[in-house]
Amino acid sequence: MSRSESKPNPDQREVSALKPLTSSRSRFAGGEALPRQAFASPGTIAGRGSEFVEFVEPQRDAKELVLSPDISRTLYDVVDEYRHGDTIRSHGLPLRSRLLFCGPPGCGKSLTAEVLAREVGLPFMIAKLDTLVGSMLGETASNLRRMFETAERQTSVLFLDEFDALARTRSDPTEHSEMRRVVNNLLLMIEQFKGRGVVVAATNLESTIDPAIIRRFDEVILFDRPNATEIRRLIKFKTRNFGLDFDIAEDAKQLLGRSHADVERICFTAMRHAIMARRKKIFRDDFDYAIKSDRRRKDIQNKVSTSI
Ligand SMILES: Nc1ncnc2c1ncn2[C@@H]1O[C@H](COP(=O)(O)OP(=O)(O)OP(=O)(O)O)[C@@H](O)[C@H]1O
Ligand SMILES: [Mg+2]
Repeated sequence: MSRSESKPNPDQREVSALKPLTSSRSRFAGGEALPRQAFASPGTIAGRGSEFVEFVEPQRDAKELVLSPDISRTLYDVVDEYRHGDTIRSHGLPLRSRLLFCGPPGCGKSLTAEVLAREVGLPFMIAKLDTLVGSMLGETASNLRRMFETAERQTSVLFLDEFDALARTRSDPTEHSEMRRVVNNLLLMIEQFKGRGVVVAATNLESTIDPAIIRRFDEVILFDRPNATEIRRLIKFKTRNFGLDFDIAEDAKQLLGRSHADVERICFTAMRHAIMARRKKIFRDDFDYAIKSDRRRKDIQNKVSTSI
């Protein structure tokens, strides 16, 4: 079967995402996830550099993700290429294995990295950048090298979360020059990464990312706040075990500008409210209550963050 025949068009994927509980096809995988590779025995992972990473068994499923068709397509292609990695490599071509996820908080960067690990059947290896950078400055570069050696030994999805802390450092001219060297070093290691796995870096920065950083990545994906359609899908998915007693179209519009995590929290509040009223369905009243408490929370957040 040719690649184009086997790949659903983005609209079909959109539809399958709306029916996550009945569809066995995952969001951006377009097929079964690759079989999970056995975690290396602790003896293999242990050793130089392993103290700077944490292995997490991916729990979350692609069916949970609500992404724009554009992001779904890119991730689909990355996973699909990974499935055909040997063929691509046999033509002397590299795989897209260095991904930069950027965008505001709570829009799915970490979740997608975890799901990606599950889809390609690799261990999810989270870099403990704070531990690594927290040590003596002079040691940081060698710690970084050791961490990358670990990732090359144990094929995995290496996740460099809050990469923005380092990225910001690099563009800040007042920063200690050694620290800037460390960031350059990290970028070089990402560029020279020889492992068979995938490196994913995540940052909250959107517009101020140094072009030198972007250049190091095969794919840069912007995780934006959900549009009205995506908010509706998210609400439907998050409340799937309850059921809604009203049309959420208007409520979805009210939530424009909120992150996926905000919408999720509003759904949780509405469900708790329904439970307290001994109902198995969510009424508009539950949702209004949840939206009001979210507004209150945002107001407090704004006051607190502007007063610091
Ligand atoms: N695109 C999404 N689809 C479905 N659920 C989402 C999505 N984005 C976020 N969520 C929900 O919000 C939670 C927090 O999201 P996540 O940690 O992935 O955000 P993030 O972009 O990594 O944020 P941060 O920049 O703060 O690290 C997720 O665990 C998930 O439950
Ligand atoms: Mg995150």
